[in-house]
Amino acid sequence: MPRPIALVTGASSGFGEAIARTLAKEGYDLALCARRGERLEALAAQLRAAGSQVHTGTCDVRERKQILGFADSAARSLGGLNLIVCNAGLARGLDKVESIPEEDLDQMLDTNVKGLVFTIQASLPHVRKSGGGHVILIGSTAGHATYEGGGVYCASKHGVKALAQTLRLELCGEPIRVTSIDPGMAETEFSLVRFKDEAKAEGVYKGMNPLQAGDIAECVRWVATLPAHVNIDEIIVKPTDQGSHTGAKVHRRS
Ligand SMILES: NC(=O)c1ccc[n+]([C@@H]2O[C@H](COP(=O)([O-])OP(=O)(O)OC[C@H]3O[C@@H](n4cnc5c(N)ncnc54)[C@H](OP(=O)(O)O)[C@@H]3O)[C@@H](O)[C@H]2O)c1
Repeated sequence: MPRPIALVTGASSGFGEAIARTLAKEGYDLALCARRGERLEALAAQLRAAGSQVHTGTCDVRERKQILGFADSAARSLGGLNLIVCNAGLARGLDKVESIPEEDLDQMLDTNVKGLVFTIQASLPHVRKSGGGHVILIGSTAGHATYEGGGVYCASKHGVKALAQTLRLELCGEPIRVTSIDPGMAETEFSLVRFKDEAKAEGVYKGMNPLQAGDIAECVRWVATLPAHVNIDEIIVKPTDQGSHTGAKVHRRS
């Protein structure tokens, strides 16, 4: 049996890194990309030492040519692509719709929506050529609700949900599964990237028990290893301490 091959975007930290580690343990070879290439190389060295073939690429998913080039070179060097995990994404700030800086607006929409479409455009031809596979989109509970200051991030994640639902329609009849995994509060670099302030980022998870990156990797492992005729459409996964899809109802102990 040939080893399955997974492409993971945003593998330099958080969910993407944990997903890469979990899939490597599951016997996958890996194509890993992000903008911080040195982090990818450190991760790749560990995964290679444990027996996986790993192709890395310093790549910005907002740049169509970069992600197209990365998917092509990955498929060439690893021998195809079977599983695509569109994970790269971010939130910036908590500005109201009325006053959000154009730079933050562009970064969230270009990364979370356009970057995801570019990743799919770059990868699907290789998945087909490999005989079929699975596309997993990392959405968010922000795709199921909204909150003040989160308008554009929520719009981008509602967009991810729309893309997952559309892809399932467009790919029906082909042996390609489409799953959206939609986490609630998880302790990664997400809040640090959002606020650019360590104390503020730590405050997000203060007194509560958030999800960890490995919890999302386990969701990916589960949906990807089910029999090929079983498509899990969507997983909404939240910490037990988070009652609402937004931060409106969170149990904190201190
Ligand atoms: N943590 C949460 O609470 C939470 C909840 C729901 C959904 N999510 C979603 O989960 C996904 C992963 O986030 P995370 O929590 O793991 O945060 P993270 O630790 O900040 O990881 C984000 C990853 O995305 C990559 N990335 C960002 N912009 C990119 C770009 N333009 N091109 C390529 N890679 C890019 C980053 O790599 P580089 O900086 O090296 O490029 C990094 O590897 C995101 O889509 C996020 O919206 C997170």
